[in-house]
Amino acid sequence: MRLILSQKNIGQIAADYIIQRINNAPDHRLVLGLPTGSTVLDMYAALCKACADGKVSFKNVLTFNMDEYIGLPENDPQSYHTYMRQNLFSHIDIKPENTHILNGNAPDIEAECRAYENAIKAAGGIDIFFGGVGRNGHLAFNEPGTPFTSRTGRVALTPSTREANARFFGNDLTQVPTHALSIGIGTLTDAKEVWILIKGEKKADAVRRLTEEEPGINCPITALRHNGKATILADEEACAHLGQALRARFDELRRKDPDKGYWEVTL
Ligand code: GLP
Repeated sequence: MRLILSQKNIGQIAADYIIQRINNAPDHRLVLGLPTGSTVLDMYAALCKACADGKVSFKNVLTFNMDEYIGLPENDPQSYHTYMRQNLFSHIDIKPENTHILNGNAPDIEAECRAYENAIKAAGGIDIFFGGVGRNGHLAFNEPGTPFTSRTGRVALTPSTREANARFFGNDLTQVPTHALSIGIGTLTDAKEVWILIKGEKKADAVRRLTEEEPGINCPITALRHNGKATILADEEACAHLGQALRARFDELRRKDPDKGYWEVTL
C-alpha cells in the first residue's frame, strides 16, 4: 500500500491521474469505480472542468458506483443517483448507458447484486476503483465486521454512519435510510487499482488504524494494508494521528523536497 500525504488539493491530484489514465488508454477506454461523499466533490469538479476545457473525453469511459441507499426514490435529492448526475454525469460527455449505479429499489435485490457483479466482469473488471472512507473505517457501505471477501449485497448501516450522514437529511436521523446496496470489499480489491481519498481530522483515526494495526474486519479499510495495488491519498489533517516512525519518514521526505507539496511512502 502506498500512502500519499498531501498539502495540495487531493481532489485535483486524483482528477489529474484519472485524466492522464483516460488519455493514455487505448481508445480512451477506462473502467472506473466511483464513490460519493463530500471528500470527492473537488475531484468531480476538476473532472467536469477538464472535460469542458477539452482536456479529456469520457465518451469511452465506463463507470460503476460503489453504493446506493435502499428505499430512496432514484430522483430523491439524497440518492447517489442524484449526486452523480449533479456532480459529474450531467457535466461530462459520458454515455448514460456506460454509467452503472445499483438500484436500491430493485424488486429482487439478490438478482440486482448478481447482475452488477456480472456487469463489472463483462466490462473487463474495474481499472481503478476510487473511494472515500467512513469515520469508522467503512469502505463503500461495508461496515465494521464485514468479511474482506464480501461481494455486492444488501447491508445494514451502523448508527455511527447514519449519524454522520444525517447532515445531508436535515439532521433528522429518522430520514436516513437504514440499509443500502453496496459493492463488497472483495469487489473493491478485485480492481486493478484502488485509490482511497481521505480528508479531515474526523478521519484521522481511520488513517492511524490503517497504518498501525494489522488488518482486521473491525476496520474495513485495513483490508488494503498489504495491498500492493492500493493508494491512500490523504491530506495533512487526516494524517494528524500518524505514529511517530511514519511521521518521521514523512518529515524526512518533506525536508528533502519541501516544494513538492505531496510525499509518499510505501507500507
Ligand atoms: C458514505 C459513502 C462512502 C463514503 C463515506 C464518506 O458513507 N457510502 O462511500 O466514503 O460516505 O463520506 P464523506 O466523504 O462525506 O466523509
